[in-house]
Amino acid sequence: MKTDKSDILTCLRSSEGYVSGQQLCERLGVSRTAVWKVINQLKADGYRIESVTRKGYRLLESPEDMLSESEITSRLTTEWAGRKLFYREETGSTNNDAKRCGEEGHPHGTVVVADIQNAGKGRRGRAWQTIPGTALSFSILLRPSFPAERASMITLVMALAVAEAVEAALKEDRQGSKESGTENPAGTTVTIKWPNDIVINRKKVCGMLTEMTMTPELDEIQYLVVGVGINVNNESPQEFQEEIRETAASLRIETGRRLNRAELLQDVLCRFEKHYETFLETLDMSRLRETYQARLQGLGNEVRVLDPAGEYTGVSRGINDRGELIVERENGERVAVYAGEVSVRGLYGYV
Ligand code: BTN
Repeated sequence: MKTDKSDILTCLRSSEGYVSGQQLCERLGVSRTAVWKVINQLKADGYRIESVTRKGYRLLESPEDMLSESEITSRLTTEWAGRKLFYREETGSTNNDAKRCGEEGHPHGTVVVADIQNAGKGRRGRAWQTIPGTALSFSILLRPSFPAERASMITLVMALAVAEAVEAALKEDRQGSKESGTENPAGTTVTIKWPNDIVINRKKVCGMLTEMTMTPELDEIQYLVVGVGINVNNESPQEFQEEIRETAASLRIETGRRLNRAELLQDVLCRFEKHYETFLETLDMSRLRETYQARLQGLGNEVRVLDPAGEYTGVSRGINDRGELIVERENGERVAVYAGEVSVRGLYGYV
């Protein structure tokens, strides 16, 4: 039997102190030599593992930011999200890969993660740039049994999970390292630009793309794919293409913190799983509305609604239970804006 790095890492991570070689052999059903070989591979990958005679092994430190299958799976505490996981160093688009998983019958919650996407897809047919070694790009496959008209709310559910996970990662002094001169004592507020852009200091740090495939009879959702691209550890705005340089940023640029992408992914998946279950109770945003709205960028501010049928301005009044943005027009009329083809901007720019 092949002993995986992630099996050993999971055992080391789940125990407070030392894990004896014997315990590892028993838990994984392999020989001491096999355990020893994997421990050496992990050390070569940059894990600091202490080995003490008669006590065993102890994980002292993980590489600061390494995205790999074992690094991700050994951290997972979810029930179903990411329990089947594909990690690719390079791919075209994780959304396309997850759709393929959908066709091939992979289970609800399957996740595809990649370090590099060479054909990443953005909303409205735009390309999405992924900078190697810095971004967290992943897609989750969902097999819901709710009606198709409910699907657009799932990106709001994911937006909430990402915003919370990012804020928690920036607040806690977990694995990430702080760069000198970039203290942020008040913490960073992470907002959501409706429906699902994640914003820090008025700059976009994350985008999402949800794609739905219907059954051949077109009466049910066959599967949904929610793709998330977070700019995590980019050092400088120059790394972004010129056309987005004004509005895009990374968590590191805005806060001076370098984060461990595997740890961030684990937290996003955990929070998503929880919020998704809450969503399923009512099949709408009613139970998540307040939490989402507390993070809504520009609540009470004037916004410009870019509707293909005609542009208009109004004041953002939050979302309704269907996840639509309520915009109050000058004559007092309240319009419920459905995400679809419409986008909403601040009066003078992106937010
Ligand atoms: C946008 O804001 O335009 C949406 C960007 C979505 C990008 C993510 S990265 C992971 C997943 N794979 C893709 O090809 N796109 C999404």
